[in-house]
Amino acid sequence: MKIKSAAFVMSNSNVTKCPKDRLPEYAFIGRSNVGKSSLINMLMERKDLAKTSGKPGKTQLINHFKINDQWFLVDLPGYGYAKVSKKKRTIFQYFIENYFKEREQLVCTFVLIDSRHDPQKIDLEFMRFLGENKIPFCIVFTKADKLGSSKLNKQITSYKKKLLNHWEELPMSFITSSVNSLGKDEFLNFIDQVNTDVAADFK
Ligand code: GTP
Ligand code: MG
Repeated sequence: MKIKSAAFVMSNSNVTKCPKDRLPEYAFIGRSNVGKSSLINMLMERKDLAKTSGKPGKTQLINHFKINDQWFLVDLPGYGYAKVSKKKRTIFQYFIENYFKEREQLVCTFVLIDSRHDPQKIDLEFMRFLGENKIPFCIVFTKADKLGSSKLNKQITSYKKKLLNHWEELPMSFITSSVNSLGKDEFLNFIDQVNTDVAADFK
């Protein structure tokens, strides 16, 4: 898929105020600092479309971007950031949960996992939440440039094996790097295919 346009639409913390256009939507979620906003910029070939930071907790709202006037991409706040106050964390959880439960046009969620890490409780719990709410998701391994290729393959094979202790089937997965654009074409082709598959539902 060629990116002809990528435009920021709005930020908010209330699912009922999200854009009303009936377009297929893709959400990016994962631990704080895992690379959600960077991945969005890499895929869209824009440096600063989504705001990134070396410090966790940068993205704090539901951010909608309209791509090719055809679909939405959504950058979400990360979970698991210890420095966010308990009260704020609860509010985050509330609006993120609501977003996932109520956003009807959400066709696929990308759960981002740092390629270097073993399965962590918070990610497994989030995937379970998606499963329980029948929300389709893919796993995206990020920051692949931080590992050599043999270590990377070993780590991902081991991650998937461990995931099978919790899931009967593995979701589709991608290996990406926002530094060297690894995985870009595969990722965009996947979205293109899903857009085609769901087109009839969005007429
Ligand atoms: P929050 O909005 O705080 O939840 O974080 P986020 O998941 O959006 O992460 P963000 O994209 O802001 O990136 C966090 C840090 O990781 C930044 O310093 C990025 O430069 C770095 N980073 C993101 N992706 C990659 C990657 O593929 N490779 C490398 N080496 N660094 C990355
Ligand atoms: Mg972010």
